[in-house]
Amino acid sequence: MSAFTVGYFVGSLSSTSINRKLAKALVKLAPEGLALREIPIRDLPLYSQDYDADYPPPARALKQAIGEVDAVLFVTPEYNRSVPAGLKNAIDVGSRPYGKSAWDRKPAAVISVSPGAIGGFGANHHLRQSFVFLNMPALQQPEAYIGGAEGLFDQKSNLTQESTRKFLLSFLNAFAGWIGTKLGAS
Ligand code: FNR
Repeated sequence: MSAFTVGYFVGSLSSTSINRKLAKALVKLAPEGLALREIPIRDLPLYSQDYDADYPPPARALKQAIGEVDAVLFVTPEYNRSVPAGLKNAIDVGSRPYGKSAWDRKPAAVISVSPGAIGGFGANHHLRQSFVFLNMPALQQPEAYIGGAEGLFDQKSNLTQESTRKFLLSFLNAFAGWIGTKLGAS
């Protein structure tokens, strides 16, 4: 299989983020055909339409980073049943100026992660709603709502459960296949 580069976004800015732990576990788990690298969102300015005339350097860097990867993966918590503001801001920054969205036709996938039982379903699907408008072909199955996430890691942030490891590996393999389909490779 061809090697694809996937830019991943962590929707949490917390220094103790379980989403970041999960993203790091994904980097270790990734099959040969996928190279995962983070696209940071922490330093982005809050989007304003005033920027469209002359995008600030961190916003340009975000768009360039999206342009350089084959696909994008969102690993995100749910805030108040929706997408955390920092991640939504990154979506908005990447989408403008109008007609120059960095997201257009970029294959995407989402994993939502929560200590709660619902596994961030609301954030996951609000993100998918943006994918539709942004013309991002999104992996449909398997869906990834990772609940009870605080119990998934040991003190060194390694995954403790074989079933989770297996599921995440199957998710990454499905995503690799999806990217291949969308980019016309195999
Ligand atoms: C939360 N949390 C949360 N959890 C959830 O399952 N559904 C929700 O709607 C919310 N809402 C919410 C709002 C805000 C402002 C905060 C700070 C937290 C709890 C959240 O899942 C928990 O703090 C996770 O640990 C956040 O992920 P990270 O930062 O650890 O990756």
